[in-house]
Amino acid sequence: MKKNVLLAPGPTPVPPEALMDMALPIIHHREPEFKPIFEECLEGLKYLFQTERDVVILASSGTGAMEAAVTSFLRTGDKAIFVNGGKFGERWGKILKAYGCVPIEVKVEWGKAVDPAVIEKLLDEDPEIRAVYFQASETSTAVKHPAKEIAAITAKRPGVICVADAITATGVFDLPMDAWGLDIVVTGSQKALMLPPGLGFIASSEKADAFLETANIPHYYFDIKLEKKKLADKQTAWTPAVSLIVGLRKVLAMIKEEGLENVHKRTARFAKAAREGAKAIGLELFAPDSPSDALTAVKIPDGIDGLKVKKILRESYAVTVAGGQDEAKGKIVRLAHLGYAGTFDVITGLSALEMALADAGYEFEMGKGVAKAMEILREGA
Ligand SMILES: Cc1ncc(COP(=O)(O)O)c(C=O)c1O
Repeated sequence: MKKNVLLAPGPTPVPPEALMDMALPIIHHREPEFKPIFEECLEGLKYLFQTERDVVILASSGTGAMEAAVTSFLRTGDKAIFVNGGKFGERWGKILKAYGCVPIEVKVEWGKAVDPAVIEKLLDEDPEIRAVYFQASETSTAVKHPAKEIAAITAKRPGVICVADAITATGVFDLPMDAWGLDIVVTGSQKALMLPPGLGFIASSEKADAFLETANIPHYYFDIKLEKKKLADKQTAWTPAVSLIVGLRKVLAMIKEEGLENVHKRTARFAKAAREGAKAIGLELFAPDSPSDALTAVKIPDGIDGLKVKKILRESYAVTVAGGQDEAKGKIVRLAHLGYAGTFDVITGLSALEMALADAGYEFEMGKGVAKAMEILREGA
């Protein structure tokens, strides 16, 4: 028997309270017993997104919500900027292209955050650009992009919306949709929301909702205009993922009880401990300048096989982390500390990493990383 530990940046562990609720007998989504559950979710999502706007719940993974953020709002042939500093930034470009938009790429070196001035310059040069798509947290590189600054740029332009993929940002760090003027925010269930995969979420500002009226990209299932209409009656257009929504009510109540600010503080503390712990054993961070608190990406030292480290973590120690993708393949490992994470998940992650690195031939003083993290994680510290 091996006790598995899941420390990947999604899917993430689900609290037993939510698992129990999701195991309850299924109820019918058009009957009265579902309505109060759904209403509670809608309120809880507003709190989580820090918005007065309705948050649409989709039965899809996060990419479905990303797709809806293009197809429900833009027109064929529309020009849109996308920030490409990793796998998920690249995905914005692919979606835009798939639906006949004109993607304008802002290429960012992996591990670095975008310079908002580059976006501003492009918008100044081309008044036809209608949207800016970016990641608030680029999970493939563990980078936090400057959402507030990007939103401040689009806020000055009535014809341009800013669209944040907050799939590993919502419930991780502060991202107040209304206060910052983010026009569209999308997220998914299997990250800081502490649920299994299967729900996508999308909220849109008044400015973005004006785009709903002129959108003409062919679409059917993901129809935000229709979903918003249905929300007026506390309904979804199609059969919702009933059990996941029952679980959603529970996790949103847990977030409310802890307080969003405290959730952010807890996550930030874990992130700091993971980063400092890694540095204490001589590891370099992949995103040292603008790290996301969702996860820590560490560079595998020269001469050590990163794929082997990940394999040892899984096969010898039953710890699942994420490796690097594309150009970072074999070069980094990514330890998550978002959502249903506690002090000892960080300790477990770091100690497992130390053991796996030692097994893979890295020479260092074992325990130093964990000791550093313990210093940071102690309640009194
Ligand atoms: C930042 C970001 N965007 C998009 C996605 C894609 O979401 P999904 O796999 O739920 O479709 C992920 C998933 O890891 C992500 O981390």
